[in-house]
Amino acid sequence: MKKEKIILTGDRPTGKLHLGHFVGSLRRRVELQNSGEFDKIFIMIADAQALTDNADNPEKIRQNIIEVALDYLSAGIDPSKSTIFIQSQVPELCELAFYYMNLVTVSRVQRNPTVKTEIKMRNFEQSIPVGFFCYPVSQASDITAFKATTVPVGEDQAPMIELTREIVNRFNHIYGPTLVEPEILLPDNAACMRLPGTDGKAKMSKSLGNCIYLSDTPKEVKKKVNSMYTDPEHLTIDSPGHLEGNCPFIYLDAFATDDDVRRFLPEYDSLNALKDHYTRGGLGDGTVKKLLNKVLEEILVPIRERRKQFEQDIPAVYNILKEGSERAREVAAKTLEEVRAAMKINYFTDEELIKGQVNKFKN
Ligand code: TRP
Repeated sequence: MKKEKIILTGDRPTGKLHLGHFVGSLRRRVELQNSGEFDKIFIMIADAQALTDNADNPEKIRQNIIEVALDYLSAGIDPSKSTIFIQSQVPELCELAFYYMNLVTVSRVQRNPTVKTEIKMRNFEQSIPVGFFCYPVSQASDITAFKATTVPVGEDQAPMIELTREIVNRFNHIYGPTLVEPEILLPDNAACMRLPGTDGKAKMSKSLGNCIYLSDTPKEVKKKVNSMYTDPEHLTIDSPGHLEGNCPFIYLDAFATDDDVRRFLPEYDSLNALKDHYTRGGLGDGTVKKLLNKVLEEILVPIRERRKQFEQDIPAVYNILKEGSERAREVAAKTLEEVRAAMKINYFTDEELIKGQVNKFKN
């Protein structure tokens, strides 16, 4: 039998999704979904993982589950092609994680660069919650429970996929071939990999207040684009401009095609021609921002329209999540059964064990 191609990916429901999520993973997921190349696609709302550093604020997670679901659906995730589910509704994932924890050392998790950054950001240095510390292991169960071959995520998730591969190898080595080793699928250009916030500083992130959300109104988007960080040395239109760290140009790299540039600014035949003009001098930031705003609106208008439709029937959205969670649970339960059998902790269905014990106690 040909090996099935299976995607698993997901997000923590700690806020609405923004353009960084969109170019970093969401847009790609929709393309992969519609490519027809994958046998199964699972998209998980990682509420249990979100609780590992939000234990005191479950209401935030509860409120954002529906926001993330609406963002998925409006971006083009189609529940008839992709299974959208909620992590906590698949308890089999916890049991898998419990067994995988035995295959990972504390020092291995301590070396995880993403975990390290998060510990600093959350001031956990003095007191790291055990659950938070273990989330990379739990992420390995999310991935392996579905026998995922492909995990489309941002670069910050690479250490998790690496750890998952190690767990898979260790498990299969000790207990016999059971689990599937996943591959990471990264965004295809640098601008998409790490989209900066509108302030040009760090990555786009809710806590920094530098985001453009998929659900922002046209007015909000325009305001945010107009206030974007550009080149502080580009004082007059005629002075030569610099592209490095220049937000509107980074965003154009992530969102615009040469064709977009030609359609909106026919005097340029490509994005590079526009960049050349800017670095030579003679092109104002206003023109670039106006172009970016048009490019973004073209992407956001259909997303907003779909969102509005789904917002009309919220119970139906919960129903999509419920059905998805039920389907996901069936798949995870099957893998868990195989894992238990491989670990030989399936005592009551293990006839060989029972026969052996009968003989042992016979005399
Ligand atoms: N860690 C991911 C994030 O921060 C969410 C996540 C949880 C995930 N489990 C996963 C992503 C499994 C991919 C695969 O957004």
